[in-house]
Amino acid sequence: MPGGYRGGWARQESPRGSAAALMGSIAEFEDVREGMSRLSAALTAPAVARNREPILAVLRNVLPTRGKVLEIASGTGEHAVHFACALPGLTWQPSDRDPQALRSIGAHRDQRQLPNILEPVELDVTASIWPVGLADAVVAINMIHIAPWQATEGLIRGAARILPQGCPLFLYGPFKEGGEHTAPSNAAFDADLRSRNPDWGVRDLGDVCELASAHGFDVIERIPMPANNLSVVFRKRGDVRLGDAKED
Ligand SMILES: C[S@@+](CC[C@H](N)C(=O)[O-])C[C@H]1O[C@@H](n2cnc3c(N)ncnc32)[C@H](O)[C@@H]1O
Repeated sequence: MPGGYRGGWARQESPRGSAAALMGSIAEFEDVREGMSRLSAALTAPAVARNREPILAVLRNVLPTRGKVLEIASGTGEHAVHFACALPGLTWQPSDRDPQALRSIGAHRDQRQLPNILEPVELDVTASIWPVGLADAVVAINMIHIAPWQATEGLIRGAARILPQGCPLFLYGPFKEGGEHTAPSNAAFDADLRSRNPDWGVRDLGDVCELASAHGFDVIERIPMPANNLSVVFRKRGDVRLGDAKED
């Protein structure tokens, strides 16, 4: 079976010990109870444990050493905490458009208590205004095939708006190439996606590159990944200007 989002999300077990055992006062209990419900919102996607290290190895070469990374469609939030932990010079901004995903990202963030991961923001890539106005890199993992083509258009249009020249847009997932699937498992995954939503489906790399080029991106690299996925790196044309994203 190809990698990426194949198995759906599962709820992570709550930590051991009751909230009452930690209670020192009613106010504290309320804090703990709120904390517990945040933690129990933490979801897991089995694919993340398989793909996060290969993706991280690529990101180490693609991302700047400092600056703000906007992660689109963070899903469970497991990638966000893993990458933020491994890349401490970066400030990681997770996002998603789905409220359940936002709760899960928040719960993983609370668990890990990392200094360089921001509160998740609600971000639908098709919106004309994004809640993040400037970033040093945009990362989108396993999103464009599990959304209508308009989401790919929104992603590339939005990334072009917020990335300074020279900064990277990183995509990961399965792609067709030359209009053909690259593996039978990707063809089966594509058919499954389309049966769930006819507007979803594995995208052709040529179509994505053409769109990106029209929005001022150069295609820098196509990196084969495990389980018939690709990492694809684009950069905004022009002079490199890294590490200087300002807060909105
Ligand atoms: C398959 S999950 C991938 C999650 C995570 N990146 C991963 O690899 O585990 C696809 C994600 O895309 C998000 N998504 C779908 N359409 C979107 C849109 N228009 N804008 C932002 N996120 C979107 C969904 O909410 C979901 O969290």
